[in-house]
Amino acid sequence: MTMKRRNFIRRATTTAIAGVLPVSLIRIAGAQESADFTFAYISDSHIQHIEGNRFVRNFDRGLISAVAETNLMNPKPDFVMFGGDLAQLGTREELDHGFEILSGLNGLPLRGVLGEHDYYLDLGDYWRQLFGEHYYSFDHKGVHFVVLNSILTFDDWTFNRWESAERRMSEMAGLDNPNGSPFMVGEAQRRWLAADLQNISRDTPVVVFSHSPIQKIYKGWNFWTDDADQVQAILAPFDRVNVIYGHVHQIQYNQIGNIAFNSVMATAWPWPYPSSYAKSGSHVPVMTVPMNRADPFSARDATGWQLINVHTGRVDLEYTLYDNSNRTVSWNGASGRPEDTSYQAPALRVPPQNHY
Ligand SMILES: [Fe+2]
Ligand SMILES: [Fe+2]
Repeated sequence: MTMKRRNFIRRATTTAIAGVLPVSLIRIAGAQESADFTFAYISDSHIQHIEGNRFVRNFDRGLISAVAETNLMNPKPDFVMFGGDLAQLGTREELDHGFEILSGLNGLPLRGVLGEHDYYLDLGDYWRQLFGEHYYSFDHKGVHFVVLNSILTFDDWTFNRWESAERRMSEMAGLDNPNGSPFMVGEAQRRWLAADLQNISRDTPVVVFSHSPIQKIYKGWNFWTDDADQVQAILAPFDRVNVIYGHVHQIQYNQIGNIAFNSVMATAWPWPYPSSYAKSGSHVPVMTVPMNRADPFSARDATGWQLINVHTGRVDLEYTLYDNSNRTVSWNGASGRPEDTSYQAPALRVPPQNHY
């Protein structure tokens, strides 16, 4: 089963959103057509070392395919983000192997987001040698981009609890694990974020990349960031914010005030969408079958392309899924929420749209 996801983020291309929004709104929003640009996003490849020079072939293939497709994109993206969990257990072998595959991106600048699978073996030391700082910001063509390290946790858990780094990594890699610990951005980084944004005008589009969602979806699987509310409060004053995250290996979107949340899918495997997703208090039931698949009979379940328009600060998505079915999620000004317009009946929408 080859899992292939490539997520392509598109900002303010008039052709892309003309059917959804009047072109004048784009101008009001301050975007100059000459400054329109795209970037690509690849996430959650979970390159897994077996022994010697052997790696799990399917996960290799997912990333190799995504790199090949990114090289074919037209227009060419200005840069590529890798959204975290390049490795499965954070080893040098896995990170080197994954980075080598990513080096096949033909001349495209590459930046990275740190995932927990990259971090909890050596606390991100080797990842830093490959990708650079764990959190940072940059400006590109009038957009302010912020990369957060959202997968930190309590110091006591990180530094004092485990007899080995390998044990720490494997405990954090588990789901529904009573020995696990919730993710957080943490106070020091929140202070940095507030200072970073201090001189950014409120009408500047802000795009935040994190690994875990900066919202609370399901704690047992760490589809959750413990201080999400405080980070959202720092972002709330801006007119247009998009938070783009990996980690959840499934389609998720949400709108909280002026902040649009968009998950990107994984190249490795999908996490399931249980039928009780919309009914459970914390949205996802306890996982009883490890590595359960959303559709175990489909080799390419949940794979496909994802186009995210980040211009408006409102959820605005198009998916082309593995079976060539299309799915569009667009902002409904009348209801004040993003709506899945073509895929599922409202009662069955995944994820539930109840975070308003
Ligand atoms: Fe992941
Ligand atoms: Fe993750």
